[in-house]
This record gives sequence, C-alpha cells and structure tokens, in this order.
Amino acid sequence: MSPEPQLTSEERYCADTFNGAVAAAAISAAWEIGLLEELDSTGAVILPDFAAKQGCHLPLVHTIALALSGRTVVDLDGDVARPGSGFAEVFRTKGFFYWLTRGSGEIFTQMPGLVRDDNRNVRPLRRDSGAISVACRSIARTFFDPPFEEMLAGIRFRKVVDLGCGSADRIVGLVRRIDGLSAIGIDVTAGALAVAGYAVHDEGLADRVSLVRDDVLNLSPRDEYRDVDLLTCFLMGHDFWPAENCAKTLGRMREVFPRAENLIIGDTARSTGVAAGNYPMFTLGFELVHSVMGQYLPTLDEWEVALADSGWRCVERRTIDLPAFSFIYRLVPA
Ligand SMILES: C[S@@+](CC[C@H](N)C(=O)[O-])C[C@H]1O[C@@H](n2cnc3c(N)ncnc32)[C@H](O)[C@@H]1O
Repeated sequence: MSPEPQLTSEERYCADTFNGAVAAAAISAAWEIGLLEELDSTGAVILPDFAAKQGCHLPLVHTIALALSGRTVVDLDGDVARPGSGFAEVFRTKGFFYWLTRGSGEIFTQMPGLVRDDNRNVRPLRRDSGAISVACRSIARTFFDPPFEEMLAGIRFRKVVDLGCGSADRIVGLVRRIDGLSAIGIDVTAGALAVAGYAVHDEGLADRVSLVRDDVLNLSPRDEYRDVDLLTCFLMGHDFWPAENCAKTLGRMREVFPRAENLIIGDTARSTGVAAGNYPMFTLGFELVHSVMGQYLPTLDEWEVALADSGWRCVERRTIDLPAFSFIYRLVPA
C-alpha cells in the first residue's frame, strides 16, 4: 500500500476546494438516483443491493459514494455507505446543489467563452428547466413554504395563480389541502410545465389546477383570470427586472387580475456587505449564474424602491436566512 499523500495547508485548502466541486456534482447524482433518500431513511446502504434495485451501474455508484465521502457526506466502509457528519445539512440543502450542477451546469462550461464581449449574444444559454423546477421545489418546501404558510393563515382566497410556477408544487399543495380552491400555474418553459403536469396528474387534480404556458412579463387578461383573488410568485421575481420593467410588470398584474386582493412574492436578492470568505450557501452560485446570463439581480433596497412605484403596497414582510438575502412580501392593491 502506498503511503497517504502529505499535504501542506495550502495544498489541503486547494484539494478541499476541488473536492467540494466534485462532491457538488455527486450530491446531485446521489439525490436523483435515490441514494440520499435511502441513506436518510435506512442509515446504511449496501451499495451492490442499492445499485441492483435502482438499475444503476455499481462501479459508478461506488465512485459517487467515494466522492461524497471526500466531503464527509457519507462514511464509506467497503460496500456499505452510511450518513457522514456532513449528511444532515447536505440533505437539507440538496436543492441548491441540484440547482447548481444539474440545472445550471452548462452555464459554467460555457462561461469562459461567454465572458468575452464578442460572444455575449451567443444563444441559447442552456439550463435544464425541469431540473431547476425540481431543485426549486426542494428549496421552496424547506426554506420558503413555512413562512409563506404563516402568511396565508391571515387571508381568504378561492382562486390562486402562481406566476412562474415551476413544478406547481405550491398550488398542488394548496388545492389538495383547501376545499373548493382552484389554481392556475403559469410558466414559460416546457421543462418546468412537464414536471408540473406530472404532479397535477399524479394528484388527480386536473379539474382544479390548470397550467398555462405563457410569459409572465407579457400577460394579457383572460376570462379565467377575472376571479383570481390571490397571486403568488416565488423565486422568479428577479426576472421582472430591470427596475422600470419590474414596476411596469407588477402594475400590469392589477389589470390582468383585476380582483387580486393579495400578491405574495418571495425571492432572493443580490448580496451586499458580505466579507470575502464569508459567503453562505448558494449566494455566489446564484449571482454567478445570473451574471453569465446577463440577468440583473436587484438588492433588497432596490426591491423596496421598485415596490413603492408598483401599484401595490407592502403590508407584511418576512426575511429568510437561507438562501441569504431572501424575502417574502405580501402586497395588496395600493
Ligand atoms: C427558479 S424557478 C422557481 C419555480 C417555482 N416558482 C418554485 O417556487 O419552485 C423560476 C421559474 O420561473 C419561470 N420563469 C422565468 N421567467 C418567466 C417568465 N417570464 N414567464 C413565465 N415563467 C417564467 C421559469 O421557467 C422557472 O420555472
């Protein structure tokens, strides 16, 4: 057996950075094949049995587990993987890893070319909208839905539209729980609507949840929008920007949904004032991906200014610690 390499602290730091990138991709794969859930529910996974059951290639499953062990996500003992010291937090935040590597991976491979001015207009920039909707479903369930549910407790509504609905998880959950509620999910990407369509079908809610493929920035009034009394919009508000578009788009919602009594909007803003080396989970990935795409991200202060000019008035606000710089605002017609 050859001796374990001895690394200086600088080499260790660099190896950890590299291994973190490798582990991020491995976390996404492990989640998608069901390995994270299996670790969470059973506490010990015999990899050959797991690979056979899931129809997965055992040598690759083993190497994914090895990559996870490099960041203590699992403890690997021969063919048996167990949750490591980092597992619980990785399991809670798996949506961020999936968003980064599975949903936005090609953004990073294209980035070196796209940074050149001559190439900025090369299109299309490829993201996997289905994977992003799955990632956001997990992020929203864990971090945005609990304060959102508290906010909902104080208001009455019969028909909800979710703008940029992604997986439709939010409206499917609401309709399942609330008798007589109906819902419409609007999204512009086919990948997200495919994930949403499966959810609506699986829950047998096709008679109460409809899905519309449309651009939220350019909606026109429709008969089925006339009696909508609640609008929700999560993790896409930054697509309303720059500022003049944001105020205009929010104002237009008043015309398209004339009876909307509440607009609940939750999103992540651009960071301010973080010392280098202190960035939390997600923030830098979120900002780098949107920078490659040329998408402006407003700060929390900029959101406040835009809202003041939007035709809506903020009556309730929550801040969210993870993702950092995130918020939920409840707006009512001004
Ligand atoms: C980050 S995902 C969030 C999905 C969902 N709201 C959630 O909370 O899980 C953003 C979604 O907004 C959609 N989207 C972005 N721009 C849009 C637009 N202009 N019109 C409609 N949908 C849009 C994307 O396709 C994507 O599904």
